[in-house]
Amino acid sequence: MSIRKVTKAVFPVAGLGTRFLPATKSIPKEIMTLVDRPLIQYAIDEARAAGIEDFIFVTSRGKSALEDYFDAAPIIEAELKAKNKTDLLEVLHATDMESGAIAYVRQQKALGLGHAVWCARKLVGNEPFAVLLPDDVIAAERSCLAQMVDAYNEIGGNIVAAMEVAPAKTSSYGVLDVAEDMGSLVRVRGMVEKPKPGEAPSNLAVIGRYILQPAVMEHLHEKKLGAGGEIQLTDAIARETSKGLVHGFRFRGQRYDCGSKAGFLQATVAFGLARDDLREEFAAYLNDVHALQKAAQ
Ligand code: G1P
Repeated sequence: MSIRKVTKAVFPVAGLGTRFLPATKSIPKEIMTLVDRPLIQYAIDEARAAGIEDFIFVTSRGKSALEDYFDAAPIIEAELKAKNKTDLLEVLHATDMESGAIAYVRQQKALGLGHAVWCARKLVGNEPFAVLLPDDVIAAERSCLAQMVDAYNEIGGNIVAAMEVAPAKTSSYGVLDVAEDMGSLVRVRGMVEKPKPGEAPSNLAVIGRYILQPAVMEHLHEKKLGAGGEIQLTDAIARETSKGLVHGFRFRGQRYDCGSKAGFLQATVAFGLARDDLREEFAAYLNDVHALQKAAQ
């Protein structure tokens, strides 16, 4: 079996982000910042570290700030140059994308994650591709997608990032039915999107990183409705399990659910503490808060 290289990634960013209202009235959720970088930048950096060359954004109305973010910033750049602020110029240039590297397609109707991915089919073509959900932010020494590409280069097929979650939380995720557990890799025999409490096949949940084969796109083409009346990516991948072509991958790293407010705050604390320029002051502040809370109890 020859394993084809993964060079394209799809970023579904069409969601309204209603959980973050009122902020999302005027800013796309993906532009909300963890410390000083928008969520989408973390996903882009992770994909770049995994060798992705073509970035496909599936957007919707009201996401123009996202397109502007990846454009050149000539006014800011001229100002920084004039003032000789080389460190900030470096920060700015670290986000540069080569012209033509990002393409945008619109999802006209919110018909689900599977439908959003399907909207990218013409740009993906007949090739394996990655999918990254920017809500899931993963702090890792080696980028999560890069770890998955390493595994993919060994075994091919379809690979989904996976993580054990509390049994009470399985109904928020796609959940794997495990045929064989090999440690970091598990062979999957079925997948269920958002199983009802007590009906999950395991507590191994799908996290928003995927490496998929073109066959999954073909399944999505059938536009079958699944959980919540939406076209589910999980269902399309599940159809490949009977061929033994789906593996779950337990990545090394810490995942933050930045689709929820609590997760976003946790990520903010973690990324703040990870920064050399902020750690000391921020940690001291957190200690004070903690001490004050204890004293109040
Ligand atoms: C999506 C997927 C789900 C996956 C989750 C990971 O759900 O449909 O299978 O487990 O992302 O974050 P969402 O969170 O968009 O409802």
